[in-house]
Amino acid sequence: MKIAVLYGGVSAEREVSISSGKGIIQALKNKGHDVVGIDFSPEKLDEVMNLQVDMVYIGLHGRFGEDGKVQALLDMLEIPYVGSGVLGSALAIDKAKAKLFFEQAGTRIAKDLVVYKRSYNKNSFEHSFSFPVVVKPNQEGSTIGITIAQNDDELKEGIEKAFQWDQTVLVEEFISGKEVTVAVMGNQGKEKALPVVEIISKNDFYDYEAKYSTGMSEHIIPASISKEQLAYVQNHAVIAHRSLSCDIYSRVDFIVPKEGEPVILEVNTLPGMTPTSLYPDAAHEIGLSYDDMIEELINLSRK
Ligand code: DAL
Ligand code: MG
Repeated sequence: MKIAVLYGGVSAEREVSISSGKGIIQALKNKGHDVVGIDFSPEKLDEVMNLQVDMVYIGLHGRFGEDGKVQALLDMLEIPYVGSGVLGSALAIDKAKAKLFFEQAGTRIAKDLVVYKRSYNKNSFEHSFSFPVVVKPNQEGSTIGITIAQNDDELKEGIEKAFQWDQTVLVEEFISGKEVTVAVMGNQGKEKALPVVEIISKNDFYDYEAKYSTGMSEHIIPASISKEQLAYVQNHAVIAHRSLSCDIYSRVDFIVPKEGEPVILEVNTLPGMTPTSLYPDAAHEIGLSYDDMIEELINLSRK
């Protein structure tokens, strides 16, 4: 097949996407496809409009790539692509809105407060959280702009920092527990959850450095959590993926406390495909090499 891979992009996760793109392009070449790689930006729209390809693999992460905008462009051009469509992508990128769907579907979410830049006033800001709390830009990936605040001053600093990345900021209760993630794969109605991956970070939490530096995190498969917890996260990963109308693949992140139900964090519709990424490790567990995994995602997208 002739396949275009969009990578790079203009989001804060540009470097991550360059690494994902490199892997995806190589895998497609190894599988014998005719591949064209495009470092995607708005200036490259002409190139995309004139693409003569059978399929596009979107290797972008974050805004203007993972948020449904590129998907809308490809829909209008009638070019098939790998992964979720406009709606699933747009819902999943908005962490606060996505949580409403998760809650509605019966999945446990962390208590939160959404703060908007346009109405935020640090002098009159009130909340009812006990510390620590997690502060994050509503629409960023790879832990960019995140603070774990231990007191009011740190919370306000965290909000200001997160506003540098997004007009909307999510403040959440901090749930202490193991970080796990579930890769979901399959066409709508036939999705399956892959083995659960636990992440052990060498840093305080699974931050940008721990995510993308070799040796800074360890992936344990299957995660060292109880049978019930494994079943919960696999079941609810698929429920969450479906609740947002996602398609083909996603990776769903959870925190698993010592006791009680696991808490969903988010659904990533274009999960990282870098050498240290989680989705490829989960695929490996079901016998798919990196190249086979990419080929499988292409095949699922043809149906
Ligand atoms: N946002 C990064 C790429 C991930 O979820 O893997
Ligand atoms: Mg993410």
